[in-house]
Amino acid sequence: MCGIVGCILKEDDDVAPILFDCISKLEYRGYDSIGLATFDGGKIHIKKDKGKIEEVDKSLNLTDMPGNFGIAHVRWATHGDPSKLNSHPHVDEENTVAVVHNGIIENYLEIKEELIGEGHRFKSETDTEVIPHLIQKFMDEGNDLEHAVRKTIGVIEGAYAIAAISVNEPDKIVATRKDSPLIIGLGENGYYLASDSPAILKYAKDIIYPEKGEIAILDKTGVVVHDEFDNAVNKEIETINWTPEMAEKEGYEHFMIKEINEQATAVRNTLTQRENIQNIIDEVGDLQRICFVACGTSYHASLTGKYLIESLAGIPTDVILASEFKYSANTLNDKTLVVFISQSGETADSLKALDVANKTSKTLGIVNVAGSAITRRADYVIQTQAGPEIGVAATKTYVAQLTSIYLFAALLASDEELLNDLDNVPDFIDEVLLQNDLIEELSKRYNYARDFFYLGRGYSYPTALEGALKLKEISYIHGEGYAAGELKHGPLALIDEGIPVVVIIPPGDNYRKTMSNLEEVKSRGANVLAIGAEGDESLESKANAIISINPDVKEIIAPLVYIVPLQLIAYYITLEKGHDPDKPKNLAKCVTVE
Ligand code: M6R
Repeated sequence: MCGIVGCILKEDDDVAPILFDCISKLEYRGYDSIGLATFDGGKIHIKKDKGKIEEVDKSLNLTDMPGNFGIAHVRWATHGDPSKLNSHPHVDEENTVAVVHNGIIENYLEIKEELIGEGHRFKSETDTEVIPHLIQKFMDEGNDLEHAVRKTIGVIEGAYAIAAISVNEPDKIVATRKDSPLIIGLGENGYYLASDSPAILKYAKDIIYPEKGEIAILDKTGVVVHDEFDNAVNKEIETINWTPEMAEKEGYEHFMIKEINEQATAVRNTLTQRENIQNIIDEVGDLQRICFVACGTSYHASLTGKYLIESLAGIPTDVILASEFKYSANTLNDKTLVVFISQSGETADSLKALDVANKTSKTLGIVNVAGSAITRRADYVIQTQAGPEIGVAATKTYVAQLTSIYLFAALLASDEELLNDLDNVPDFIDEVLLQNDLIEELSKRYNYARDFFYLGRGYSYPTALEGALKLKEISYIHGEGYAAGELKHGPLALIDEGIPVVVIIPPGDNYRKTMSNLEEVKSRGANVLAIGAEGDESLESKANAIISINPDVKEIIAPLVYIVPLQLIAYYITLEKGHDPDKPKNLAKCVTVE
């Protein structure tokens, strides 16, 4: 949902190559246009256009810009088509102020009308363009850049992380945020700002997290942060332990396949959170109810949590889509633990729900990105240890979320057997990954398909939903995940000759019933791909194709392992279709608008 960066170097070196390097790392946040603004020789220099980063760089040579400080942006269009005019940075009429922005200014139309009435002329269709105009107007009234930005945020409504530079007050970047992420990095060679840490990992590991309404002023000598009353705030400096290599492809063709291959490590590292999770359980105390709130893949991880917690710990558990939370949240109380699962920790729908839940209940965030908004607003935090995830499709963060939930449920229920079983999961995942080439070959068989169904029962039902989501978001093929027993209540009518149906059928209590559902679709002509236990002869005779999983993977832990072949299938089908799995159309990694 757009990414911003800014940098001011301590020496008089050119900042453009560094800005370009940093903003390139945020391409997963938006890839329909890119732009940079630097300052040199008394004026602002801007290069921007629509298109992917490498295309725009090829035509504009983005690293060739003068000046030792500047700002940059990648865009995921909300207001106005992807076009050169709508690309950021945006400027006022006289090119005296340049701004990059991530978020949405909800009242921009009223502001724009008013400014037009005062004689301002606009060039773009964006909500953002009002910001440089307002800053310039307030500077013309005698305010310095910081106070012009302060006055501007008094006028605009909505979500924003903003960085601004001005010719009238050079050698300084002023940044602020509300409901959109912004971090400030203290590097050896200069000072940085960014929407997300992968942008600046190479340059700065000591991070400051500005709070809503605080204003950060970056210059050659350092960073100061002022609160809304202009008082200097003594910000805590946190050090990120991610390495720059973690945010690189390291020889893989795409981030997605790299991240799929990192899943055993993600599980292993997240299992180290056991003590922290036990402490949280002890501190939270008596619980009458648990309520998960999440979106997308994180919602599917939450559904697995419901099955686990209800069956192991007997605590009633709901799962609510974050965007629907406000329509059903009035039954929470102080004996409810509301659990927010989010890779990014910045999803707007989840943050809105968190603010509501904080009023009545204890809240827990299960989040991958350290220092993100959910980690700062929830009462308790479990940090999943997946490392940075760049591919838009969540993979390793999903298994890391699941690992945290499994630990949480097993510790809540003092289920030693499950705790021991979890230790074997990384090896089971690695065994699936050994079948990479076979799965790649198999995926070619489905090039004809326009629709896919995914079926699973019990613990395997969320896996079916997640398998379908992976397929549709990156390959653009329609995929439906269904509870296997629900198919006969309607969707069975859609099963026809040759329709691929992926059946998730691990050994266990639900095996027989799932097998009946497999036969139902098979007898109607479906092309059945079964994900089941190695050596299952009955499955071999019924399915058209099988991906075999170690038979020691019990039904209860199957979600952590059976999802891996589904991710690989989605990935390879996407390559067959000629699409980029890391940058699916219309999507962004972090959804900071409601
Ligand atoms: O950062 P979050 O986990 O809160 O994001 C939630 C969804 O936007 C996310 O899971 C989305 O569905 C992914 N693209 C799935 O691969």
